[in-house]
Amino acid sequence: MQAISELIKQLPKAELHLHIEGSLEPEMMFDLAQRNGLELAYKSVNEIKNAYQFTQLQDFLDIYYAGMSVLITEQDFFDLTWAYLNKCHEQNVQHVEIMFDPQGHTERGIAFKTAITGINRALQQAKTKWNISSKLIMCFLRHLSQQDAFKTLEQAKAHLDLIDAVGLDSSELGHPPSKFQAVFAEAKSLGLKLVAHAGEEGPPDYVEQALDLLKVDRIDHGNRAMESKTLIARLKSEQIALTLCPLSNLKLCVVDDLSNHPLPQMLENDLLVTINSDDPSYFGGYIIENFLAIQQSLDLTKSQIVELVKNGFKGSFLTEKEIEQFIKQVDTCANSLI
Ligand code: ADE
Ligand code: ZN
Repeated sequence: MQAISELIKQLPKAELHLHIEGSLEPEMMFDLAQRNGLELAYKSVNEIKNAYQFTQLQDFLDIYYAGMSVLITEQDFFDLTWAYLNKCHEQNVQHVEIMFDPQGHTERGIAFKTAITGINRALQQAKTKWNISSKLIMCFLRHLSQQDAFKTLEQAKAHLDLIDAVGLDSSELGHPPSKFQAVFAEAKSLGLKLVAHAGEEGPPDYVEQALDLLKVDRIDHGNRAMESKTLIARLKSEQIALTLCPLSNLKLCVVDDLSNHPLPQMLENDLLVTINSDDPSYFGGYIIENFLAIQQSLDLTKSQIVELVKNGFKGSFLTEKEIEQFIKQVDTCANSLI
């Protein structure tokens, strides 16, 4: 009989909500700034860390976009992604579905190809070296126009073999999913899967729009869906996965305390909820730290942890057969530890 923290560490896990630019650790930010001859607004790693005080999503986004400006070359994108995949290996994450924000780079004059080639090279190396499987999600920045998103989708067309899905992120309030209906329809026609951030700060109506207008396959966050009984019933009956990010919610003041996180009500309602890290270097932890924090705050049981871990695979874009194989591995590992 192992401690619950051991169970969390040892179970094979999937991560479905991770912005690769949000895994840029302050140390690497400094190294890359130096390598590329750039000057940062901060003088030390500690100064950067002290700046990570947020009261809402926008406070974080301003710092996040400034931080990613040190990413210039293909090697930078490789190094960033490789560092995250090393963490995955350390934390026994065996499948990742990572997001990237091409517009955060093309707007600065960095080619789409530079970013995607570096990220993909690291993903392929992790498959070869550790058998970590992956999917890549290209996000549209919702504070920009749909026309801009269409331009990005055009650029993506030369690399569709490397892209599995499109997503929608950045400033939620005032930028409803309806703004991106046409570009999501085109992405779907190209055979891409669809996800969108919704209900992180935005109202339940944004979650409904993501489902009805964008036709997403899963919802990133979705916390505020719990304000609507009809939405809860729908998420349950359609088993739409929600990619929750506990430490992100705490740092961005989406919840005032993890003990008030909506996860227990979601589990009671049989929703397909998963645990993820969102932007680990900004929010204080990777997937294991997120599991540990939410487990301790809500006193989750071992069987709830196993359910959450299995949901990570069930909510993924893997094939049914692959999901079945991963679930078997989770069961085998859980049975040996519980
Ligand atoms: N981009 C990176 N992290 C994000 C988040 N938590 N919400 C919206 N956009 C993001
Ligand atoms: Zn996110």
